[in-house]
Amino acid sequence: MARNKIALIGSGMIGGTLAHIAAQKELGDVVLFDIAEGIPEGKGLDIAQSAPVDGYDSRLKGTQDYKDIEGADVCIVTAGVPRKPGMSRDDLVEINLKVMKSVGEGIAKYAPNAFVICITNPLDAMVWALQKFSGLPTNKVVGMAGILDSSRFRMFLAEEFNVSVESVTAFVLGGHGDTMVPSLRYSTVAGVSLPDMVKLGWTTQEKLDAIVDRTRKGGGEIVGLLKTGSAYYAPAASAIQMAESYLKDKKVVVPCAAYLDGEFGVNDRYVGVPIVIGEEGAERILEIEFTEEEKQMFEHSVAAVEDLVEACKKIDPSLA
Ligand code: APR
Repeated sequence: MARNKIALIGSGMIGGTLAHIAAQKELGDVVLFDIAEGIPEGKGLDIAQSAPVDGYDSRLKGTQDYKDIEGADVCIVTAGVPRKPGMSRDDLVEINLKVMKSVGEGIAKYAPNAFVICITNPLDAMVWALQKFSGLPTNKVVGMAGILDSSRFRMFLAEEFNVSVESVTAFVLGGHGDTMVPSLRYSTVAGVSLPDMVKLGWTTQEKLDAIVDRTRKGGGEIVGLLKTGSAYYAPAASAIQMAESYLKDKKVVVPCAAYLDGEFGVNDRYVGVPIVIGEEGAERILEIEFTEEEKQMFEHSVAAVEDLVEACKKIDPSLA
């Protein structure tokens, strides 16, 4: 059977990490694409030279030619610029929108049947634009954010409770920005919801509020520490989970930026919601019910996404 082909559009910090994990997991052969000459080739060669030691047979190729992504089963897009200290994700709109146009055209031409995972920020607006520019079906274009935000939330919660990260589940919904909605009701320790954990005396509401706040600012905390770029290990791991679920038809249920066509009262926008990822891509949306407070937070978050989409339409009127 032919191997799967995974195209990484953007071979910077996240792209390189994606290549390493995808190859180690033997998810398929990996094509690293970038406009920067030498970077994808160098990273591909370096990772390939670790294969004999680690024992995997994925082939890696670096390129500046979109033709090399031909027939890719999965495309993961990180092309663009990351945040620097003092920048919000939204500051990236103008530059990264142009990048999405060229990437969308490249994917439409050479990999129209791929499952496309966008990571480039500001995520909810960039994945929306990428779907429009590529013209691929909406179920085949998704954005990676919710798994990352939930993973950050899970890590902080596991530290607070001094339990395994595996015993903590969490759902962070809404846009991938400071307005994201970490849900306490739908986050659990071995099935026990966070409000119940407060009742059991394992934590306090104040501590949970502080963890929610840290989760919302989780990306910025890392930007502040790194100073020259943004997070890459956890974003890469999160996108790989999505790619793997698609390639293996695992049907994991995870929060992702998915196309909403009336669900949650939202039309023609990408927002973070729980979805099933399987062989059809984003197969189904889990339309959970919100409390009044959660609804307000979600709507606030959707409004922030709306502002970014409007900004995109102004920059590129072909999107209007
Ligand atoms: N086509 C292909 N690659 C491009 C293009 C383009 N038009 N423009 C820029 N790139 C490449 C850059 O050359 C660089 O190698 O995208 C890569 C981005 O890598 P990094 O700068 O290392 O950024 P990274 O940390 O990987 O983050 C990428 O993901 O989380 C988001 O905010 C983050 O938008 C950023 C993206």
